[in-house]
Amino acid sequence: MKISIIGTGYVGLVTGVCLADKGNSVICVDIDKNKINMINKGKIPIYELNLDRLLKKVLSKKTFFATTNLEKSIYNSDITIISVGTPDNNGKIDLSYIKEVSKQIGLILKNKSNYHIVAVKSTVLPMTTELVVKPILEKYSTKKVGEFGLCMNPEFLREGSAIEDAMNPDRIIIGQYDNKSGREFVKIYSKFNCPKIFTNLRTAELIKYVTNSLLATLISYSNEIARISEGIGGIDIVDVWKGLHLDSRLSPFKSKFTGKGNARIKPGILSYIWSGCGYGGSCFPKDTKALVKLAYDIGVKPEILNSVINVNKTQPEELVLYLKNIIGNLKNKKIAVLGLAFKPDTNDTRESPAIAIIKSLLKSGAIVTCHDPVVHKKDIKMILKYPKITFASSIEEAIIKADAAIVVTAWEEYRKLSPEYFKQKMKTPIVIDGRRIYSKEEFLKENVCYKGIGYR
Ligand code: UDX
Ligand code: UDX
Repeated sequence: MKISIIGTGYVGLVTGVCLADKGNSVICVDIDKNKINMINKGKIPIYELNLDRLLKKVLSKKTFFATTNLEKSIYNSDITIISVGTPDNNGKIDLSYIKEVSKQIGLILKNKSNYHIVAVKSTVLPMTTELVVKPILEKYSTKKVGEFGLCMNPEFLREGSAIEDAMNPDRIIIGQYDNKSGREFVKIYSKFNCPKIFTNLRTAELIKYVTNSLLATLISYSNEIARISEGIGGIDIVDVWKGLHLDSRLSPFKSKFTGKGNARIKPGILSYIWSGCGYGGSCFPKDTKALVKLAYDIGVKPEILNSVINVNKTQPEELVLYLKNIIGNLKNKKIAVLGLAFKPDTNDTRESPAIAIIKSLLKSGAIVTCHDPVVHKKDIKMILKYPKITFASSIEEAIIKADAAIVVTAWEEYRKLSPEYFKQKMKTPIVIDGRRIYSKEEFLKENVCYKGIGYR
């Protein structure tokens, strides 16, 4: 199929490259000229595993290119996928980009005689495609939906494994305005072998929100239980989760399928039932808040989701409190923050717990040195505003002569650090483990002052 995709953020670009690799002809469109030039040279504007390799492949096969020319892209395609950002604006979803591109598409469709499908891939609240996108498309195209097709096709890509997720999806959800829209649109996925579910537009929109908010709920639940364990004392939350994870409804016996042995299947969902310093990223924080706002707008009090957000808001501060309990006054103490990305394998710092932790440390007068394997100084504007922050180019540089270190992101290189290493390099070996990636016993045996989430 011939597809144009508007917005070359991480979702638009990954989707475009993967659909091109699966036999479609893809044009990616963006208003940002620099991004377009980079992409056409095979360079990627984000850090994403295997994306550059696949981009180079589809560029050389000429099944993919990028442009700023929206009109030509729509004329030269049968389907347009909207993939512009839908950022959070004080708890409300900002639809200005969605509205603007819907208008632009409408104006072009006015003069296009062939049947064309518009599909929304950006995360939008239930009813947005019907009540916002559809009327704008109809107004500016002077056509009624039916003369053109309309779909809502949410994405479930995880940063850091977006290519893997896009090439091997677990399900494809197609919200369709009418049968013809869905029947034509699904052809872009003809080479994908997974369940394809057809729904109405608002159901597809809600599926995306409930997926993300369930995962966010598990994380906040795990963090609240960690607080309760700490309050009781004499319990380590890691043991609690190990015990819970063995419930065969959470990790079924493989023998159910193979007929032998005691080995377990370890579903990915288990890793969200684990205590840490809270969720971040471009999706969970924004999507939970937007769903809460929608609930209030329609007269439902979202009690669980409100709590999920509140627990998450205060979770990063727990790490700073641990530190204060150990050191006391943080004024002029050199604190190393290991990890800025909201999770490993991405350079995304949006809503990263590291930001809240750094802000709190600075407020307490600490001298902060931070490190991240892939986030660079230029990526994190907030940090540039604070002259007291030093950006270390190696772990060693970050922790050398430090009074304490806080591990915020579970990068593989941090997991490998031994208690001896911290002892050798730091002024005082105080390690706050925000992800429970180290062995408590090993660190304490080596006389490191080690504190992790979920025990007292
Ligand atoms: C995506 C989704 O679209 C969002 O709804 C979801 O919740 C998270 O993932 P993302 O890919 O991260 O967002 O978006 P972003 O990095 O903001 O990129 C959007 C791109 O659209 C930018 O390159 C921007 O230049 C482009 N854009 C924006 C246009 O081309 N035209 C516009 O009018 C507005
Ligand atoms: C998420 C959804 O997983 C994805 O389906 C959707 O399309 C976009 O939002 P992403 O934000 O990239 O993707 O990352 P994800 O790996 O789900 O992590 C989100 C948050 O959960 C992070 O703060 C991360 O630290 C936390 N998390 C993630 C865990 O606590 N445990 C995990 O095992 C994975």
